Amino acid sequence: ADSPIEAARRLAAGAETIAALREAVAGFDGCALKATARNTVFADGAEDAEVLLIGEAPGKDEDQAGKPFVGRSGQLLDRMLAEIGLSRQSNILISNTIYWRPPGNRDPTPGETATCLPFAERLVALMRPKLLILTGKAAAHAMLQREDGVLKLRGRRLAYTREGLAAPVNAIVMLHPAYLLRQPQQKRLAWLDLLAI
Ligand code: URA
Repeated sequence: ADSPIEAARRLAAGAETIAALREAVAGFDGCALKATARNTVFADGAEDAEVLLIGEAPGKDEDQAGKPFVGRSGQLLDRMLAEIGLSRQSNILISNTIYWRPPGNRDPTPGETATCLPFAERLVALMRPKLLILTGKAAAHAMLQREDGVLKLRGRRLAYTREGLAAPVNAIVMLHPAYLLRQPQQKRLAWLDLLAI
């Protein structure tokens, strides 16, 4: 039998469309977080968009709605994106590195992150966005495979590369809206991130 990571890789590789990938994630039982979550939270927005945003993990509101970024930080995110003409109704797709709410919003473990990662990688490969926005430490570390802090990574032109991906994808790290709710004085930096995007 496959390990959960191998099963995730195999399922992700077999998905030829974003719709098929959504179904593959919903049917995947290899991540233990699924047992305590209400819903699978995969992606929301325009699947043909040129911009893909990847966050961390669903919280309580997202778990209830089955959609990413719908709680307080999601509402702030939508307002931030609207300032630069991006909306899930038309030109951005929003997803996460983890598809099930960790109990009590604890940080996902490295094992949970590694198990879900093949799906986020496949989403990038299928969508081929012109820009990949990573918000928060977990997303930045998992997708960029580097350990620098978000305050160091943010606002810079980075590249997302993977074996099998024809060309690198432009990537940028943005401060997480949940962090901005706790540290509103950092909104100045977030505005610079939005201008760079
Ligand atoms: N924070 C995230 O990173 N993702 C969500 O979907 C909600 C809050």
